Amino acid sequence: MASPSPEQVIESQRQDWNRVAGGWEKWDRFFDEQMAFLNHRLVADTRLRSGMRVLDLGSGTGYPALLAAQTVGPTGNVVGVDLAAQMLDAAKRKTSSLKLSNITFQTGDVTSLPFAKVSFDAVTTRFCLMFLPEIPKAVAEIARVLKPNAWVAAAVWSAPDKNPYLKIPIDIIKQFIELPPPDPSAPGIFRLAKPGDLASMLQHAGFADISEQEFLGDVRFSAAEDYFSSLMDIAAPIQNLWTKLTSPQQGEARQRILETAGQYRKESIVALPIAVRMVAGRKPG
Ligand SMILES: C[S@@+](CC[C@H](N)C(=O)[O-])C[C@H]1O[C@@H](n2cnc3c(N)ncnc32)[C@H](O)[C@@H]1O
Repeated sequence: MASPSPEQVIESQRQDWNRVAGGWEKWDRFFDEQMAFLNHRLVADTRLRSGMRVLDLGSGTGYPALLAAQTVGPTGNVVGVDLAAQMLDAAKRKTSSLKLSNITFQTGDVTSLPFAKVSFDAVTTRFCLMFLPEIPKAVAEIARVLKPNAWVAAAVWSAPDKNPYLKIPIDIIKQFIELPPPDPSAPGIFRLAKPGDLASMLQHAGFADISEQEFLGDVRFSAAEDYFSSLMDIAAPIQNLWTKLTSPQQGEARQRILETAGQYRKESIVALPIAVRMVAGRKPG
């Protein structure tokens, strides 16, 4: 079967993330608490300070854009871009409740940014770049819109084996249906998991002082049921696989996911390990 065109990938991404926007809003408080350390890491890697103008790519429901806006303060500003209008609607609601007036969100594709060259002091992006059909194009766009000496920092998922949080349901779904062997160059959750992959794209686009670290953590649930239902509510790519199962298969798969997740119980919590690849680079001055 022919691979989908870049336009088809973008359109399915838009539909996928719009579909799960309600789930993201439902679990917002929980994931905000669980994943905040990644936002702080991106703010640090881009050396944000007051007065800066920041671009956040694939902001979804506002991460890390909202923290960036709080960090740059009223003399700075943040623009968040995402394909999915419904994810951004949730981000806008949070902007209002946080009473932030220095942040705007707009729909768009990060592979063709509607901004002038040399117009941002930093670019952040969390869990977006691996879903792009043409990542080097987006990296070239980032280089174009950044000012000299400005930093880009990206968080992407590392290898499946180090991410039981994501791997458990995928492995269990595969026990029921045959999935084509993963194409390492196809857009998806683990597209940028390989060490050096995104870093070499940054290098190719002319970035300097490139750093890369596999940042380990976990997502902590009070019950395996919360793990299952939150992941199914927010993880569009896993939801897509889940719908391929029949209803009885879903019942059995759910049971196996709960049992496997239960093996990660430590006293009163179920802690599912995650490994995130943090990559940063500076546009030369
Ligand atoms: C897993 S969510 C991450 C959202 C947010 N950055 C976070 O970490 O919570 C991925 C986001 O990337 C967006 N996205 C995927 N491809 C995109 C593209 N080509 N241009 C802009 N946004 C894109 C999706 O719409 C979705 O909101």
